[in-house]
Amino acid sequence: MSETQRESWTGSGATAHHMDEGEFRRFGKEMIDWVADYLYGGVEKHPVQSRAAPGEVRSMLPGRPPREGEGFKDIISDLDRIVLPGLTHWQHPNWHGYFPANTSGPSILGDLVASGLGVQGMLWSTSPACTEVETLVMDWMAQALELPECYQSVPGPGGGVIQDTASSASFVTLLAARERATDWRSNREGLGAIDRRLVAYTSNQAHSSIAKAMKMAGMGEDQLRLVGVDDGHRMDPSALEECIRRDLADGHLPCYVCATLGTTSSVAIDPVREIAEITDAHGIWLHVDGAFAGAAAICPEYRGMHEGLELADSYTFNPHKWLFTNFDCNCLWLRDREPLVRTLTVMPEYLRNEASESGRVIDYRDWQVPLGRRFRALKLWFVMRFYGIEGLQALIRHHVELASHFERLVEEHPSLELSTPRNLTLTCFHHQDGDAATEELLKAVNATGDAYLSHTRLGDGDGGDRFVIRVSIGQSRIEREHVDRAFELIAREADRLSRR
Ligand SMILES: Cc1ncc(COP(=O)(O)O)c(C=O)c1O
Repeated sequence: MSETQRESWTGSGATAHHMDEGEFRRFGKEMIDWVADYLYGGVEKHPVQSRAAPGEVRSMLPGRPPREGEGFKDIISDLDRIVLPGLTHWQHPNWHGYFPANTSGPSILGDLVASGLGVQGMLWSTSPACTEVETLVMDWMAQALELPECYQSVPGPGGGVIQDTASSASFVTLLAARERATDWRSNREGLGAIDRRLVAYTSNQAHSSIAKAMKMAGMGEDQLRLVGVDDGHRMDPSALEECIRRDLADGHLPCYVCATLGTTSSVAIDPVREIAEITDAHGIWLHVDGAFAGAAAICPEYRGMHEGLELADSYTFNPHKWLFTNFDCNCLWLRDREPLVRTLTVMPEYLRNEASESGRVIDYRDWQVPLGRRFRALKLWFVMRFYGIEGLQALIRHHVELASHFERLVEEHPSLELSTPRNLTLTCFHHQDGDAATEELLKAVNATGDAYLSHTRLGDGDGGDRFVIRVSIGQSRIEREHVDRAFELIAREADRLSRR
């Protein structure tokens, strides 16, 4: 290295310094122990919800980067002292907020290996195993969930890809649907070239990522029709059909329907077959978003929700929610991959290579928004091989049993009411004294730091809606004692509110 180079890296006089092999091995072992201490016990010493005030974490750290490199021990000391108290602990067994983002030993180690390998799998040719393991794992997962065969890459024309999130899966499928409906004119000429307005449909219980995708696709949030639901919060297919007919009569161009397997608020399962028969008849792209509930289909008893999936165009679920694979890991399958690839592909000279030109390989850059991609398949491959299908089934069933136990406790409590019957592992309930009491109950439980719950608003069956508490079970190390502890806190606060 020249003197000038050294100076521009580190400032005059200082020496550039990589972590050497000895340090890497020593700190690496210490860091694995650190993570193990955290996951297997340490996490429970922290309040589940961070008590940090806005700006507090930043105020404890230097405002400017260090001029000279620091010792690794100093970095870890700040991690313990400043970062950990600033975290809300999603891996705490009394984490019951939103949906889980559960993880596992094999997944963490798979992710670590992916970081160590540091390969870039944008093209097959930039690291063949990165692509081929991913294609294989996605076919394995399709088999494990017993998805219709059309979604597997062999024999094709379908196939699976790992995206970062379900939001990306919905976004890229919406783009493909938009293009298929406009014969790729909007891809070439822009949306202005389309004389009739494109519209899409989902239920009023669908995740906000669909509305966001409409904004990003240039189709406009107002062009997303929010279809009504039945009293179980499932999309009403006759309302969908009516909406489509009205739009067609008005000169609109319906291009995309998103059905949900496991809505965010209450884990309602939309009737895919009935919806698929409508989209099939009108030639509309059907995307099925199973972000959370999709993992349950690893167990045969929950596969009924896949009914009709063979008529859908795309299906997605998140192993990073409930399949012990740490964030980020989303699985997206296409019944026919060609419309997606055609929508997203661009071939600059610097990426040209013989393998791509042979047509015999998959280049996953054409299936996603970014060019570059990590070896995410490795953690899923580790998880599937370590647990096996039977191991994963046992864990899912354990969580459903715990949720059913929790639901019984709520039902038996005099001042709590179920807001809707439990779906899989999500129980929604409220205090009988109404919204203000339910909201206060939620705040009081979360303030204890011993459990974390979240909320939503749900239709009350009388045309109104109410504030409800969601208790979502699915943390990797949750046991019955944790569920009982959470309920004990809820019951104590509910009784206190009732006595007032
Ligand atoms: C039904 C549904 N779809 C999509 C998402 C978004 O997931 P992601 O964070 O992977 O984009 C969620 C998140 O909870 C969800 O519940």
